[in-house]
Amino acid sequence: MWVETPSNPLLNITDIAATAEVAHKYGTKVAVDNTFASPALQHPLADGADVVVYSTTKYIGGHSDVVGGAVVVNDEETREKVAFLQNAAGAVPSPFDSWLDIRGLKTLDLRVKRHSANALKVAEWLESQPSDVIERVWYPGLESHPAHEIAARQMHGGFGGIVSVQLAGGAEAAKHFVDHTQIFTLAESLGGVESLIEVPAAMTHASVAGTTLQVPANLVRISVGIENADDLIADLKQALDRI
Ligand SMILES: Cc1ncc(COP(=O)(O)O)c(C=O)c1O
Repeated sequence: MWVETPSNPLLNITDIAATAEVAHKYGTKVAVDNTFASPALQHPLADGADVVVYSTTKYIGGHSDVVGGAVVVNDEETREKVAFLQNAAGAVPSPFDSWLDIRGLKTLDLRVKRHSANALKVAEWLESQPSDVIERVWYPGLESHPAHEIAARQMHGGFGGIVSVQLAGGAEAAKHFVDHTQIFTLAESLGGVESLIEVPAAMTHASVAGTTLQVPANLVRISVGIENADDLIADLKQALDRI
C-alpha cells in the first residue's frame, strides 16, 4: 500500500499505524511518502511502515537547489531489492547532489520547526479572514482539519510548512492572489527556506485535470518559508486586499 501523509496539495492525513496493521494482516507492505513531514516530524518505520520515501528536493535539501530522492528501509531483503534496482536503472545521485542533501540534513530539524511554527500562524490568520474571501483552509495543525487528532498523534514537534487555501472568489481570485504576493514567489516545488505560492490546478496538478485526482480550481498551495511570520502575513494580507 502506498501512503502519502500529509498529502500534496490537500494535506489529507492517513493513520500510518492503522494502515500498517490492516496491510500486514493481509501480507501487504506499506510504503509512506514522508516528504511533507520530513524525518524531523514523522517516523513511519517506528509506526509500522516497511518503506519510507522522500523527495529530497524539498525539506531535506531545503534550499531549492537540488533534485533527489531517498528510499529508507529497515530490513536487509528490501534493501537488497532497492539496491539492485538502483544499480540496474541508474537511479544514483551525483556526489555534489549527495553533498547538498547531507548539508541540508544538518539544519533540517531547525528549519522544519520554524517552517511549522510559521505555517501554523499563517493558517490561523487565513482561517480568521471573512468567509467571502477565504472559503476553507487546509492545514493539519488546525483543529478544524478533519484528521487533526491523527496528525497530532503521529507528527511530533509540528505539522509541516505547507498550507492550502480555497478562495471564495474561485479560480480567478486564486490567480490574482498569487500574482500579487511580494515575499512569496510564484513558483512550483516546496520545502525550501524561501516562501513559495502556486495554483495547483493550473500548475503542479494540471496534468490530473479531468481525473479522480483533480484538485479544486480555487485552491492555492503555500510553502511557508522561514522568514519573519509577521512579514509573511502582511504580504498575504496586501495580496488578498488587491483581489
Ligand atoms: C509528496 C511528494 N512526493 C514526491 C514528489 C516528487 O518530487 P521530485 O520533484 O523530487 O521528483 C513531490 C513533488 O512535489 C511531492 O510533493
